[in-house]
This record gives sequence, structure tokens and C-alpha cells, in this order.
Amino acid sequence: MNLIKPVNWNQQTSEYANIFWDQNTKQFWLDTEIPISKDKKSWELLSETEKEVYMKVLSGLTLLDTEQGGVGMPSVLSYVDDLQEKAVLTFMAAMEQIHAKSYSTIFTTLATKVQIDSTFKWAENNKWLQKKTKIIEEHYKGIRDSFTFCKALIASVFLESCLFYSGFFYPFFLAGQGKLKNSGEIISLITRDESIHGVFVGLIFQKEREKFDANTKSQIDDFAKTLLDELYELEEKYSEEVYDDIGLSHEVKKFVRYNANKAMMNLGYEAYFKNEEINPIVLNGLNAGGTFDFFSQKGSAYVKAKVEPLREDDFEELNKRLEALK
Ligand code: FE2
Ligand code: FE2
Repeated sequence: MNLIKPVNWNQQTSEYANIFWDQNTKQFWLDTEIPISKDKKSWELLSETEKEVYMKVLSGLTLLDTEQGGVGMPSVLSYVDDLQEKAVLTFMAAMEQIHAKSYSTIFTTLATKVQIDSTFKWAENNKWLQKKTKIIEEHYKGIRDSFTFCKALIASVFLESCLFYSGFFYPFFLAGQGKLKNSGEIISLITRDESIHGVFVGLIFQKEREKFDANTKSQIDDFAKTLLDELYELEEKYSEEVYDDIGLSHEVKKFVRYNANKAMMNLGYEAYFKNEEINPIVLNGLNAGGTFDFFSQKGSAYVKAKVEPLREDDFEELNKRLEALK
């Protein structure tokens, strides 16, 4: 008879689980802790087109977080053997649902019911958004063995570390100019979470990939590049549809490529696209939120409002603990 095991945190079974459990629990937050109502004045100063773009990107992000919380993380964690890693992924799944809910908290504070209903309908019917989410979901639902598990992990890192960023662009672009700053803070908190999700799932992937022979490894590597090409093409279409009206799609695509490189590095690969300067306003917004960047070995996190501020050196500690494992 197969025995069901209780998770024993007194005995380390995963190199990473403890480190990521600590970091995830330390940066726990709730949408209700941020005073979004302070953004009302700033919201009213936006043009109708700007409001519409803002709502579209947030509803698109809602769809991705709903997918990651309800399908992505649960699928991945059900295939992971290590009970401590499973626990970390379960915590991450709950955070995805907090992310998904937080966009609604922003909507309900700033927009009317008619605007909210119409933006959700838009997300349900947007061809590019639906297509990219369905591609990711197919890999989540297609987990049958270690090979398909690797594919799902790649899809997951692409979602966490790249696909979100066409949406994050606009809140950062506005916050960088002092607009909708509190809502921008929520997006910063979400980005801070997504950045460690991408690193953690990337590490699980790298460990899984190591189990294969050279031939299978190269099949996996080819799959990653093909999937990135496919998703990037959809991101281009999506960015054009959402951002062309305000003349920003070119900048958004650059930002997506920048983050696609980060996703590849989380998976243990080289950067895929050439290095480009990204919009300084957006970069400001991104860095102000304290994004954890494992590769440049820096991170700064500071959150105002009622959320317990993370100290500047919090990510340093995570970095140090990960470095020690190398
Ligand atoms: Fe999320
Ligand atoms: Fe995530």
C-alpha cells in the first residue's frame, strides 16, 4: 500500500523550498490594504481613451492571474513530488487569486458598473488574449510525464515573467508620471510576487531538465524557443490592439522583449532578444516597486500605505541564500 506522507519541515527535502517559503510569506499582502480611493482625482483627469486602455490592460491581467491561480499553479503543484515545494506553489496559487481580485478592487473604486461589465466582456472576447491564454492552458492540462511537465513549466515561466508585462507597462507608465500612484503600487506588489514566482518555477524546471539525456534536452530547448516565438507574435498583436490608440505599442513591445529575456534566464537559457533600452518612465515605475532581479543581483522594495514595508536588503537575503546553493 502506498503511504501518504505528511510534510515534514524539520527535515529539508528541497534545496529551495525553505528560502522561497520565507520570501513569499514575508511579502504577503492584501489588495484591501492599499488606499486606492486616493486615485479617484487622478482617474478623472485621464481621457476616455486612456481610461479605456487602463481598464483593458487590467482586465487582461485579471484573465492571466485567474488562469495562473485556478489552472496553472494547481496543475504544476500536483505533479511536483517534493512536499515542501508543493507547499510553496500552493501559497503562490493563493497569491495569484489575490492578484486577480485586486484588479477588481481597483475597478470598483474607480470605474462605473457599465465600464466594468464592458471591460470584462472585452477580455472574454479579445482574440489575442484568449489565444495566448489557451496556448498556456493546453500545456498545463497536457501534463502526463516528465517531458510534458517540463513543457508546462516553460509555459508557466513565460506567463509569469513575460506575458504579464504587456499589461504592467501602462500602470507603470502612468505611475512614473505621478498618475494613479496607489493603483500603481498594487501593480508593483503583484510584479514583486511574479518575479519570485518566475525564478522559483524556473529553478524547478532546470532541475527537471537535468534528468534528461542530451537529445531530449535539446528537444526541450527547441520547444522553449518555438513557444516564445509563438507567444511573442501574439503579444505584438495584443499590444498593437490595446496601445496603438495612445501611440505606445512600440514601447510596449520593447518592454515585452526585455521581460522575455528575463523569462529565458529564469529557465537557465541565454537572453533571446537583443538588449534594448526600455522606456525610462516605465523602468522607474518597475524599479520603484522593488522587483526582485536575481540576475543583476539587486532588488529594492518599498511599499507605502498600510502594507508592512519590505526592507531594502530583503531581496539581498534571498540572493545570498540562493547564491550559497550554487
Ligand atoms: Fe499573479
Ligand atoms: Fe505568479
